[in-house]
Amino acid sequence: MPMSLNSICTGSSSSDRGSTKSSLILHGVAAAAALVVGAHAYYFYRRSATVFRSRVVGIIPARFASSRFQGKPLVEILGKPMIQRTWERAKLATTLDRVVVATDDEKIAECCRGFGADVIMTAESCRNGAERCSEALQKLEKKYDIVVNIQGDEPLIEPEIIDGIVKALQTTPDAVFSTAVTALKPEDAFDPNRVKCVVDNRGYAIYFSRGLIPFNKSGKVNPSFPYNLHLGIQSYDSEFLKIYPDLTPTPLQLEEDLEQLKVLENGYKMKVIKVNHDAHGVDTPEDVAKIESYMREKNLS
Ligand SMILES: *[C@@H]1O[C@H](CO)[C@@H](O)[C@H](O)[C@H]1NC(C)=O
Repeated sequence: MPMSLNSICTGSSSSDRGSTKSSLILHGVAAAAALVVGAHAYYFYRRSATVFRSRVVGIIPARFASSRFQGKPLVEILGKPMIQRTWERAKLATTLDRVVVATDDEKIAECCRGFGADVIMTAESCRNGAERCSEALQKLEKKYDIVVNIQGDEPLIEPEIIDGIVKALQTTPDAVFSTAVTALKPEDAFDPNRVKCVVDNRGYAIYFSRGLIPFNKSGKVNPSFPYNLHLGIQSYDSEFLKIYPDLTPTPLQLEEDLEQLKVLENGYKMKVIKVNHDAHGVDTPEDVAKIESYMREKNLS
C-alpha cells in the first residue's frame, strides 16, 4: 500500500512535466546557480520558463470555528485583524504569483475582501489546513506547480521564509514538500506543542516529534546541541497536494498527532531550510497580549 501510493506520485510528477529525471536535476542546478549570482540573475530566474515548478500560489487557510480560539483569524492585533497581517506579509514574498485566503466563513471572507484579498470559499468539513489548501487549489481557475500553506496564526511570518521554502522546493526535484525550522529555545525543549525536527546532512527531514529529538542520554537538554523547532509554514508540489489529504493515516502520524509524518512514512522526501525566526504563533487569546507587547517593544506596527 505505501509503495503503490509512492509510485503513483512519482509517476505523475515526472510524466506530468514531460521531463526526464536528468533534465529536472539540470533545472534545479540552473536555478541554484542563478540565486548565487545576484539580483540580475534573480530576475532571470524569476522570469525564466526553465525554473522547475515555476508557478506558485500562496494560500492562507482560515476557519472560524476553533476549539481553542473561536474566530481567531479576525482577532485584532494592534488594531488590525490577524489575517490581514498575515496576508500583508505574504504579499511581500517575491516568489508568489498570487496570494489567496481559503475560508469556510462568510465573516472572514467579507473582512478579507474588504482589505483587498482574493477569497476562495471552501467546505466547513476540511479537517486541516492542507485539506483546505487542496480544495482551494482545485477551485482556482489557473494551474500552479507549488502551493505554499501560510498559516494565518503566524502574523509576523517573514516574506523571506516563504521565498526560502519555495526556492527549496524548486531546486529539489525529488522532494514533494518543503518546510522551515529555527533554533529551539531550551525552555521549549519538553513542551509537546513545540515540534522538533531532525534533518540529514543534505537538508532532508528525517523525523518530527513532540518529544525532544535527538535525546541526550543524560535526559537533559544539551546546551551545545543545535535543536530545531519546526515552523508551521510548508509548501507542497501541487500534484502531491492533490493526494496528500487522502493518504491513509500512518502509525507514527497517529501516535505523535503530526500530520506531516504521513509524508515521511510513505517514503516521500521533504526539504527543510533553517531560518532565524522569533516564533510568535497565536494559538490562544492569551497569545494576543504577548505578541502585542513584543511588537510594541520592537516598534512594529
Ligand atoms: C549529552 O550532553 C552533554 C552535555 O549536557 C554532552 O557533553 C554530551 O556530549 C552529550 N552526548 C552524550 C552522548 O553524552
